[in-house]
Amino acid sequence: MSERALRLGVIVGSTREGRYGRTVADWFADLARQHPELDVDVIDLAESRLPPVHPAQDTPPLREFRDRLAAADVFAVITPEYNHGYPASLKFAIDSAYQEWHTKPVGFVCYGGISGGLRAVEQLRQVFAELHAVTVRDTVTACTSASTRPVFRRTMRSRPRPRCCSTSSCGGPGPRRKPERGVPTADATPVGVGVGGYARTS
Ligand SMILES: Cc1cc2nc3c(=O)[nH]c(=O)nc-3n(C[C@H](O)[C@H](O)[C@H](O)COP(=O)(O)O)c2cc1C
Repeated sequence: MSERALRLGVIVGSTREGRYGRTVADWFADLARQHPELDVDVIDLAESRLPPVHPAQDTPPLREFRDRLAAADVFAVITPEYNHGYPASLKFAIDSAYQEWHTKPVGFVCYGGISGGLRAVEQLRQVFAELHAVTVRDTVTACTSASTRPVFRRTMRSRPRPRCCSTSSCGGPGPRRKPERGVPTADATPVGVGVGGYARTS
């Protein structure tokens, strides 16, 4: 059997100016790199220079994007929640490939207001099913809005210790920095991180 490391494609779904998404993605990618069996490729949609419309002919950046998806064995999609959904940039990127997604596991790291981004993830599960990808039930979720702090803290208080991800051996902390009010910017901070499936978070 091959000893090759699994290639993990970490997809940064938000392209918003001043976004917080890259901070979350870098935090997650650093944790993933601590696992020697993973070879981590951060695929940042803000840097991928995908065309503004789906072109009739492939462009070099589009080919490069698809090649990186094809090279990945498994994906972690980093997504915020926008108006109870996920960002258009992410949908455009997902629709820009097809076979590259097939049969591959897709996990989610989400963030946002009161739902911690989980509503965006539930929509993404439907999309990835159409692409013959297999979504992972457990989701890493972070509330990034100061207004949701009390809700989040109640959730966390019932747990012995916040964990950063669903790996049972992983005791790493979530990203640390002080929360800000309103829409978080790139230097803002989530108030905490949890691991949630439906039952524990809805
Ligand atoms: C256009 C827009 C719509 C949003 N809608 C929601 C929402 O429906 N629910 C929620 O919990 N947070 C919502 N938020 C808050 C974002 O999830 C939060 O600001 C997140 O940090 C945005 O990710 P980004 O900074 O990577 O773009 C919204 C933010 C924006 C900019």
